[in-house]
Amino acid sequence: MTKTILITSGPTREYIDPVRFISNASSGKMGKAVAEAALKKGFNVIVINGPSPEKIKPSKKCKIINVVSASQMFCAVKSNLKYADIFIGTAAVADYAPVFVSKIKIKKNKNIISLKLKKNQDIIKYVAEHKGFKTVAGFALETNNIIEYAAKKLKEKKLDMIVANGPETISSGKSNPVFLFADGREKKLVRGTKQYVAKEIINEIIKIESCKTCKNGN
Ligand code: CTP
Repeated sequence: MTKTILITSGPTREYIDPVRFISNASSGKMGKAVAEAALKKGFNVIVINGPSPEKIKPSKKCKIINVVSASQMFCAVKSNLKYADIFIGTAAVADYAPVFVSKIKIKKNKNIISLKLKKNQDIIKYVAEHKGFKTVAGFALETNNIIEYAAKKLKEKKLDMIVANGPETISSGKSNPVFLFADGREKKLVRGTKQYVAKEIINEIIKIESCKTCKNGN
């Protein structure tokens, strides 16, 4: 049976008032490249897409669900998790959201204002905790101690694989990541397009899936 990959993509926006929000510079390019690489290999794909200029073409094999905030992304992931065999978290989910969202535009009538923020749900961590036999892959974008921090995320979020990247990757068409695996392996990729990196990610996912099939004696 054709397997389904659930992918989170792009940034999220956490609104402060009707016209202002907290977000990040994620372009959504990596999510799009991963979705397209998965489709090329014959997978079905569901993309939970944060606001990004990158448009993925929906089709019978590719369902797109557009969301804005981290909490909407989390809801969409939860309700689609049952259809997925594999989860890939490429989204740059905002870590915090404002505690209070003003219904009207906030006026600049004070010199100093402060914003109270609350932590958003860690979507990939939730998925890994409820994954059953699913393969779960994530990304780590770090400015320093890239491998050390990515390895920590791989372990703490209980992922099968993590793609460790530096900040030069944001909005760029290219990347030179290191793949870290739950079994301790590391694989450094040469600098290449996000399409090339996405193809390598899907190839690794296919290897992990076939290893699981062997272990289960199927
Ligand atoms: N992620 C997620 N939900 C969040 C935060 C992150 O699903 N609320 C996922 C991302 O999609 C990515 C991985 O977790 O696959 C790592 O994201 P990253 O932003 O690098 O790390 P954080 O967990 O947010 O930690 P920190 O910001 O402290 O580096």
